[in-house]
Amino acid sequence: MKPRLLIIGATGFVGSNWARAAADAFDVWQGSRRPTDGSQSVVVDITDARSVRAAFDTARPQFVTLLAAMSDIDRAEREREVATAINHQGPIHVADACAASGARLLYTSTDAVFDGEQPPYRETDPPTPCNWYGQTKAMAEQAIAERLPSATIVRLSLVLGRSALPGGNSYLEKVAGNLAAGNDIISPTYEYRNPLDVRTLCHFLLELTQSEQAQGIVHTGAGDKISRYDLARAIAAGLNADERLIVAQQAPVPGRAPRGRDTHLATDRLRQLCQTPVPTCQQVVERALAG
Ligand SMILES: NC(=O)c1ccc[n+]([C@@H]2O[C@H](COP(=O)([O-])OP(=O)(O)OC[C@H]3O[C@@H](n4cnc5c(N)ncnc54)[C@H](OP(=O)(O)O)[C@@H]3O)[C@@H](O)[C@H]2O)c1
Repeated sequence: MKPRLLIIGATGFVGSNWARAAADAFDVWQGSRRPTDGSQSVVVDITDARSVRAAFDTARPQFVTLLAAMSDIDRAEREREVATAINHQGPIHVADACAASGARLLYTSTDAVFDGEQPPYRETDPPTPCNWYGQTKAMAEQAIAERLPSATIVRLSLVLGRSALPGGNSYLEKVAGNLAAGNDIISPTYEYRNPLDVRTLCHFLLELTQSEQAQGIVHTGAGDKISRYDLARAIAAGLNADERLIVAQQAPVPGRAPRGRDTHLATDRLRQLCQTPVPTCQQVVERALAG
């Protein structure tokens, strides 16, 4: 019998892909605030500890992936209380439920826990968030590590791909939609990331979920880095769209939450823990567009 995995945030961009990818190895239960198709779906609001406990009582998971979050960085900056409830209190409720039931937790965090001033970043570097989203995720990491030292905390840079369900926080789909509509896409030339395509990410999630050694923080991403401007141009080229719609942004604009300049996550620990090869940025873009 396959072990039971509860994915919380299964309707989102990463979650909808992970639910499909995990199905060969796990008996997957999908959790989110809106019900999904199929019998193995559970409605859960992570801001409510009782709702989390009820979901655990129904699904009885041995493994849990916590993806649910307010993932919109600018919205989190504007709606700090709601962001704190979802991104900080929510993970505490889930970690408490894992501690009580003995389920093994994998939590997805972000490169936004770093301000981007001293790349590349290793797992041992202290968080230095420069926006509220990064702050809430750093607080969640700490709360999880205190409650559940065996948990895996996977930090993601930008994830590229398409949602397997409508909606979700996919950068690639936003860029593709704007290109198709003929809209300019203002892209910073000075922000560097090491993105990962969602399919390769799911290979890493599979290995990390099943690994006894993958405790604590693990950085993921491509082996090299790329500016947001060059990334948007590479996507436009891959889609045979008009690259002139990608407009270089040379400095931060008012009204947007601050972002780190270069949050490149070093992948040495990922390479030690996983057999899946770490791709280059070029491979990441190709896979994301093919996927
Ligand atoms: N996408 C990226 O490039 C990226 C980069 C770095 C880190 N991450 C991290 O990766 C994770 C997944 O990101 P994503 O891009 O897949 O996000 P997403 O598309 O915005 O999905 C978020 C999911 O969380 C659920 N959710 C939100 N509030 C909830 C609540 N109170 N209770 C239960 N479920 C709730 C949403 O479902 P409903 O609204 O239907 O409930 C949805 O399923 C997040 O933790 C994010 O911080 C993502």
